[in-house]
Amino acid sequence: MDTRNKLILYLKQSESDWVSGEHLSRRLSISRAAINKHVSGLRKIGYQIKSSTRKGYLLEKSPDILLAGEIRDGLSTTVFGKQEIIYLQEVDSTNTRAKELAAKGSPEGTIVIAEKQIIGRGRMGRSWFSPENKGIYISMILRPAMPPSKTSVITLLTAVAVAEALLLLTDMDVKIKWPNDILIKGKKIAGILTEISMEMDSIDFIIIGLGLNVNTSLDEMPEAIQQTATSFFIETGLPVSRAAIIRAYLEKFEHYYGILGKHGFKPVMDRWKALSGIIGKQVDIDVMGNRYKGMVEDIDNDGVLILCDKNGDYHRIFSGDVIVR
Ligand code: BTN
Repeated sequence: MDTRNKLILYLKQSESDWVSGEHLSRRLSISRAAINKHVSGLRKIGYQIKSSTRKGYLLEKSPDILLAGEIRDGLSTTVFGKQEIIYLQEVDSTNTRAKELAAKGSPEGTIVIAEKQIIGRGRMGRSWFSPENKGIYISMILRPAMPPSKTSVITLLTAVAVAEALLLLTDMDVKIKWPNDILIKGKKIAGILTEISMEMDSIDFIIIGLGLNVNTSLDEMPEAIQQTATSFFIETGLPVSRAAIIRAYLEKFEHYYGILGKHGFKPVMDRWKALSGIIGKQVDIDVMGNRYKGMVEDIDNDGVLILCDKNGDYHRIFSGDVIVR
């Protein structure tokens, strides 16, 4: 962790108490003058820090920004969020940046977070609306020891983690739509973009990107998505700490990732099925321009949707857009 993020953590750990400059200087192994410089830097990005020559420093208010120190404050994971967190004010796409890092060998658990994406990417070549400071744009590097055919289970697992994180923080009616949309009252609040790099028959790395609309109001959304998208703020009327959502997400993700490693796919799939409510529903599925109609028989342990059409024929569908009739 860099000095700036350590300083944030130390100031936060002391809760509403003053921390002496001498204490900080000892813990961070830097001079009192260097501490002063870091404090000025933090004030510039919105931290309200009081200082007194006698008492030291007192953190009065933190801004809603996603520096590693904010995310790590109270985070109870051991891997996700504990490896490097790369924080960017602006990026083309956090997935693209995470891919570059993974290709250079960054370990599992490395995270890229941005306040704004210029080319936020969605599934099927779509874009992801990524306004500054309003949403969560986060990508993680995974290096799971599993065959590439099982990758879609990771997407489903992520959807479970996101849904459970939202349920932990609010009483919103959260549902998962296959394969990777998180909906509130039928409107999309979050989406997941999974990208994989393979070597022969094994996974080199997976990038799991999450976009979550947090503090965006309806009139800030592009007209094209106003009918179909929502945000935490639109649903609850309250601004919410994005760092708190990220912490809940990382904790839930690590929990289910551990279950997957120890007990296999079934427990994750069972939870996914309970949160989706799609099994047994009549649906239309658009797969690259081809329309399938029928009843969802099941989602198998590879995350593949099994559809039974009106003739009783079964179709295994790997990816597509689902409309529940
Ligand atoms: C979708 O529903 O189509 C998936 C949207 C995924 C968006 C996220 S935002 C963080 C990460 N970086 C990207 O460019 N995309 C994903």
